[in-house]
Amino acid sequence: MSKREYWGTRVGAILAVTGSAVGLGNFLRFPGQAAKYGGGAFLIPYLVAFLVVGLPMAMAEWALGRWGGRRGHNSAPGIFRMLLGSRKGAYVGMIGTIMPLMIYMYYLFVEAWCLSYAWDYLTGHFGRLGADLAVIEDHFLTLVGARANGALFTPAAARMLLFLGLCFVANTFLIYRGITRGIEKFCNLAMPLLVVCALVVLGRVLTLPANPAHPEQSVVNGLGYMWNPTKPGETLWSALANPEIWLAATGQIFFSLSVGFGLILTYATYLKPNDDVALSSVTACAGNEFCEVVLGGMIAIPAAFVFLGPAVVQNPPGTFGLGFVTLPNVFNQMPLGSFFGFLFFFLLFLAAITSSLSMLQPSISLLEEGLKIGRRASVSILTFVTLAGCFFVVYFSKDFTALDTLDFWMANFFIFIFATIQSVVFAWVLGIGKGMEEIRRGAEIRLPRALPFVLKYVSPVYLLAIFALWAWKNLPERWQAIVTLPKEGPPVVLLSVVLIAAVVAFFSMIVAAANRAWDKEEPS
Ligand code: ALA
Repeated sequence: MSKREYWGTRVGAILAVTGSAVGLGNFLRFPGQAAKYGGGAFLIPYLVAFLVVGLPMAMAEWALGRWGGRRGHNSAPGIFRMLLGSRKGAYVGMIGTIMPLMIYMYYLFVEAWCLSYAWDYLTGHFGRLGADLAVIEDHFLTLVGARANGALFTPAAARMLLFLGLCFVANTFLIYRGITRGIEKFCNLAMPLLVVCALVVLGRVLTLPANPAHPEQSVVNGLGYMWNPTKPGETLWSALANPEIWLAATGQIFFSLSVGFGLILTYATYLKPNDDVALSSVTACAGNEFCEVVLGGMIAIPAAFVFLGPAVVQNPPGTFGLGFVTLPNVFNQMPLGSFFGFLFFFLLFLAAITSSLSMLQPSISLLEEGLKIGRRASVSILTFVTLAGCFFVVYFSKDFTALDTLDFWMANFFIFIFATIQSVVFAWVLGIGKGMEEIRRGAEIRLPRALPFVLKYVSPVYLLAIFALWAWKNLPERWQAIVTLPKEGPPVVLLSVVLIAAVVAFFSMIVAAANRAWDKEEPS
């Protein structure tokens, strides 16, 4: 059995969790979603989701993780086996290992785009593309191989593979160094640096003059677009009556806070038994929201509003349009645009790597505690699995189909499932009394009186309701996409689902072996 590791300092643990939370979701996904769903109106369901599920579930996840760590477990399967009192529990916990790992497989790809953009701004290459949206979009689609499967495996595209390789090696190296020497040390440096870069870019955006050709396109109106709950010709109620806005806001809260991924659960197992979880979870969530709403939202939306106007902000070209097409266009029109473009994409890269790192840790924890192997062996197994997964996503790059399919099943479907399971297990299996005792142990703040009620009733009911609505809206169409074979080319959607099944089968074998080992230590 490997020696138990703990976070070196309390600030280190909080920064690591905040680093896991603050990622592409904050700087790309949030502004995109907020703009799409009407700016200010989106913030209302977003705030509701934060208060009724995001923050309470983050606290519960921290507490469950430390509970498991005190009992010698660092992995979600180990913790769930103990919580559910059965070997089957380990298979339930396995979701919290597979989900982040499979998100990593495509998240790393996008991380490499950020690094490539940062490099291209630094060397002045990107600035020379000018400010034509169509030219930048064309550049982006070619760079990421979106036009044909296998497009990145040609000599002309080798640069992208190089950046991907760099990201892969950096993540693997840091995870190999371990909790304190790898993750904690890196996040202690990267998180403050990221915030400084973001503040500089934000300062630039907030002092932009209004667009001379369209004086109504000013920063103030851009901020108005983001914060005003109503838009001309629309009432707040009509915006809020759309169920999609509630689904999108709740999904964003989960993705952004890294709640329901199994990440916080794993990180919290490395706390000492009486370390505070209450104030730490609130601090990490507050840090995430600062980076998301204040930095992420106030950089992207007003900047795009000033240069391109509300129509482009609301309908950016394609899923990644706002970040990789619209914003570069904006930087290319700004004085010193290459410098600010570099800072922005470098901060995106830092945000991405502190998140992608955390997606590997649940697997490392399972491999080490389940198979009783050392760091070198666990990292080698993980390298093999992640290489295969990343290869799949990068090879099937056409129209982002593989990326999108994995994202749908992992970051939408399984995240709801695992968050709901965690919520029910915390409040009803462990029991709300014991659960609250766990949150209160070592707590450095007084907890709201309503928290037990929220955790016991409101969060699970809200989650179940949102999940049912989401499933009804999305699953039939996704099922059709799996069973309908394309007329030309490989059935990438189906193959993506086969990849998920293969990873599930592989991890089931690991969990079976882990169960056998745990049976000897702690018969269930
Ligand atoms: N929470 C991470 C993000 O927002 C996954 O990107």
